[in-house]
Amino acid sequence: MIDAVLFCSCCFLLDGVFGVETDGEINVMEGDSFTLRTGLTGIQSDDEIEWRFGSSKTRITRIAAGNVTKYDDENFRDRLQLDRQTGDLTITNVSNEHGGVYQLSIIINNKKSIRRFSVTVYAPLPVPVIFSDTSQCSLSAERSSMIVLCLVLNVSHVTLSWYKGKSLLSSISVSDLSISLSLPLEVEYQDKNTHSCVINNPIRNQTTHLDINTLCHTCADCDLCFDTPEAVIRLVVTALMGVAAVAAVVLLVNDIRRVGRAQTIKQ
Ligand SMILES: *[C@@H]1O[C@H](CO)[C@@H](O)[C@H](O)[C@H]1NC(C)=O
Ligand SMILES: *[C@@H]1O[C@H](CO)[C@@H](O)[C@H](O)[C@H]1NC(C)=O
Ligand SMILES: *[C@@H]1O[C@H](CO)[C@@H](O)[C@H](O)[C@H]1NC(C)=O
Ligand SMILES: *[C@@H]1O[C@H](CO)[C@@H](O)[C@H](O)[C@H]1NC(C)=O
Repeated sequence: MIDAVLFCSCCFLLDGVFGVETDGEINVMEGDSFTLRTGLTGIQSDDEIEWRFGSSKTRITRIAAGNVTKYDDENFRDRLQLDRQTGDLTITNVSNEHGGVYQLSIIINNKKSIRRFSVTVYAPLPVPVIFSDTSQCSLSAERSSMIVLCLVLNVSHVTLSWYKGKSLLSSISVSDLSISLSLPLEVEYQDKNTHSCVINNPIRNQTTHLDINTLCHTCADCDLCFDTPEAVIRLVVTALMGVAAVAAVVLLVNDIRRVGRAQTIKQ
């Protein structure tokens, strides 16, 4: 008895979760709608159409004897449309819970056929954020490139890519897990504004263009990372100001020493 139960629940799992052969795959964004088509054109009064959902095969709606029945299911309430003529099922304002396998049974002339549709629901795409740790850049290193990172938080079923113009440079993908992704790029100063970071799923994409100037908080930050003619001039100026500042400090220290000595003499 126990064996039988176990055996059955295994079959059920296999059927519900793994390798279900589907007759169609649908990708949909959260908030959008989708329609599953029966392929029928005029349903007769003695035909039967039934839609079920998920691994538990919950009945959601049915046409029998020309009557449409919608089973009261919290997930589908107010989101369900069934076409009386075709039996096509439309789900509106889709949310994450509507992803899974939909099973259609059709009984025509006492012959039953079953079809399955797999629906994947995608979350809205975040806008990729590009940033750079300019503190890595140093005066001494003669650099003409810098590392920038493209970042997206809490994503699943997406690919994150760097493009230079229209050519793909690198990409990274995540499937089920909701994680944060980051993808580095070494960018040359002369290429500074030709790159873009793109996040996409099978339906949509979102792009952020790289603008080096917005990455550096000050001009000096960028100058430390790139050897440009302007940078060299600015560095020289900064260095001269630095020398002046050092001179001022030296003078101040001398003054303090002198005062200190004067005080010692007084005692
Ligand atoms: C269909 O609806 C009619 C009238 O509302 C009713 O008499 C009949 O029993 C229904 N048939 C089924 C199979 O529910
Ligand atoms: C869509 O569904 C969400 C909940 O998943 C709800 O908050 C929102 O009001 C619905 N929008 C419409 C237009 O029905
Ligand atoms: C990312 O997901 C975690 C846990 O699910 C949550 O605490 C955090 O607020 C999310 N962050 C963003 C930016 O959505
Ligand atoms: C982004 O989507 C648009 C259409 O929505 C498409 O024209 C473009 O090629 C896509 N870009 C990438 C990098 O996939």
